[in-house]
Amino acid sequence: MDGETQALIWLAAAKWLTDLGLLWMVGVLAFRTISRLVGSVPLGSVPRQAAAALALLVVGCAARLWAQTYATFGLDEPVTGELIRLVAEETRWGGRWVLQAASLTVAVALAGLLPVAPRWGWPAFGVATLAMIGTAPLTGHAMAGESVWWPMLLQGLHLLGAGAWLGTLGVLLASGLASCRGDAVRVSSLVDRFSPLALGSATTVAVTGGLTALLYVGGLGQFWTSTYGRVLLLKTVLFLTTAMVGAYNWRRVRPRLGAPGGVAALRRAGTVELTIASVLLAVTAWLVHLPMPGGGH
Ligand code: HEM
Repeated sequence: MDGETQALIWLAAAKWLTDLGLLWMVGVLAFRTISRLVGSVPLGSVPRQAAAALALLVVGCAARLWAQTYATFGLDEPVTGELIRLVAEETRWGGRWVLQAASLTVAVALAGLLPVAPRWGWPAFGVATLAMIGTAPLTGHAMAGESVWWPMLLQGLHLLGAGAWLGTLGVLLASGLASCRGDAVRVSSLVDRFSPLALGSATTVAVTGGLTALLYVGGLGQFWTSTYGRVLLLKTVLFLTTAMVGAYNWRRVRPRLGAPGGVAALRRAGTVELTIASVLLAVTAWLVHLPMPGGGH
């Protein structure tokens, strides 16, 4: 395998971890909100979910800096602390990465306060998460064109929508079902709150993703002729598959939650939905490192 392919793999793997962490963070906040609306769902495990998402983000953030250094220098020389510092401090990419790392650092500090001061800790933690979402597009294609505000806004909303849909589903399966202790009525109330959120968020993801694609692809023909366009088509197929499993969950599984085996069926179909979405995120992590046919790089 040549050095450039190796660099692309490292960059994409680090981006994948980061995006998983970001969607998870949004999911933690959205899940906490719907659980409070439902009431009677213990929220004890939610701070643990936040801590796990943050741990993943810390690994992803560090890995991205390492991978960027490898892509810049590592093809010719080994990645050293000095080279990493150079990329962080002396490059434009590094300056923007520092902003992302700073918002993550604030979120980590606030997470430590959640158990002692939840009343103002959670809203502050929400603001720090928004800062992470807002700074995420800074190191991507959103900065490649002449006007950056429109792509930045679209990508921010895209991330928020994806997190509110898939991140919340992840937290619901990982800790929401256990918190309900097999009580199908509580699970139904949670899922009833989650369904409209998922529907609205999936629509937001499709609209913002579609508009971003129009901005970046720069011509219908490029969808078949460029690697970027073809990878985007693959992503669209994965999105439609994820959405179909989501629709199955909504229309078929949700009404049967009270029946024997209903909660187990939700867990199974939700896991399938999340597995396909993780593959979609890996494809996205590859996509964002490909040259854009619409002009930028
Ligand atoms: C489950 C659904 C989806 C998820 C989880 C998802 C997730 C993401 C993520 C995490 C990013 C990177 C954002 C950033 O780093 O700033 C992204 C970018 C993008 N997404 Fe999606 N997305 C989804 C669906 C779609 C759909 C349906 C489209 C439309 C075809 C789309 C088009 C795009 C485009 C064009 C980009 C920008 C890529 C680049 O920077 O070159 N996405 N998406």
